[in-house]
Amino acid sequence: MLSRHIASKLRGFETPFYLYDTALLRQTLESVVYESNKYGYKVHYAIKANYDDHLLAIIREYGLGIDCASGNELRKAVEAGFDPRGIVYAGVGKRDKELRYAISQGILAINCESIEELEVVDALSAEAGAVTDVALRINPDIDPRTNHCIDTGQADSKFGISYEEVLEHAARIKSLTHVNVVGVHLHIGSQIRELHVFENMCRKVNVIVRNLEGLGFSFRFVDVGGGLGVNYDVPENEPIPNFASLFSIVHNHLDIGGKEVHFEFGRSIVAECGELITRVLFNKTTATGRKLAIVDASMTELIRPALYGSYHNIENITSEEETSDKYTVVGTACESTDVFDENVSLRRTRRGDLLSIKSAGAYGMSMASRYNLHDLPGAVYSDEL
Ligand code: LLP
Repeated sequence: MLSRHIASKLRGFETPFYLYDTALLRQTLESVVYESNKYGYKVHYAIKANYDDHLLAIIREYGLGIDCASGNELRKAVEAGFDPRGIVYAGVGKRDKELRYAISQGILAINCESIEELEVVDALSAEAGAVTDVALRINPDIDPRTNHCIDTGQADSKFGISYEEVLEHAARIKSLTHVNVVGVHLHIGSQIRELHVFENMCRKVNVIVRNLEGLGFSFRFVDVGGGLGVNYDVPENEPIPNFASLFSIVHNHLDIGGKEVHFEFGRSIVAECGELITRVLFNKTTATGRKLAIVDASMTELIRPALYGSYHNIENITSEEETSDKYTVVGTACESTDVFDENVSLRRTRRGDLLSIKSAGAYGMSMASRYNLHDLPGAVYSDEL
């Protein structure tokens, strides 16, 4: 909970804006580095979660690599000073100009998601006089038991190449002369809270790697993606995600010899350190008796509740009121789904109060849009307050 002093300072900023707790980000990074070092695991930050420059500069200090999903994300990472040799690039649909740029940067691996993509990377690399390191993103057909909007590793998903297709085209893949298949990649989904799912993933990876190496492939690394969930319910109780448990599961169940093991964490690095600060514009009650707190943010700043029905804790951070009421917190956009939460208990809201929408550091700002010609939200950092 923010101190009164900080909350009153925030009144001076134009709302809505993202507030980032950089000390918490540092603690999270310390934790992931400490825990991963125990096993020699390599961690990439999934830049799609948040590409804020100030946060990227901090993340870079901790020596993480980057996972990117577009040419622009790759460029952003390179411009932020991340070493291209620590960058992986996944995505089902990469444009030629994006692939050319990735090839020119000599990144750690382009994670290819179709046989056709491998052939195109081979051809573009030949044109550039390069041999490009690639990983096969394989669809492992695993149910990550999360919101279906954010699962990615089930058989019918658009992500990754099916294992059967890799087997069928193994000879063709090995015959490509301008790609070097150095790794296996998979990512099964996001906001995974049932960690036993990762055990199944490891078992599948063991079989995949063993069988493909039996066919003559030789991999330097396995990249098992991201997906570690955070606690959206009561973030104060568990602000640092459980990296230790995930790494220990992988350590106990992955059996791939001495290969490097890579992870790509987005949400678990930045979700908890960010909150969206918004101001109450108006209060009103519907004919059905629903009390609405109308705030100056909307789905254009944070689309997760409208898009996935996601829950974010909300708090009135400036009210002096002793009593609470139940509110539906709605935004300014012209969409009925533009609701942050229903039936949320808040200290009584008055026009001008600031509300904090918690754990919004991941997939908040990076998914913001300019619908209704809204301005993009600004950012305030705790180390600058
Ligand atoms: N690696 C790949 C290949 C990915 O596609 C993703 C996320 C990650 C790593 C990072 O996953 P994380 O550690 O953040 O779970 N917008 C949604 C989440 C979409 C995730 C997309 N891929 C949300 O707001 O929940």
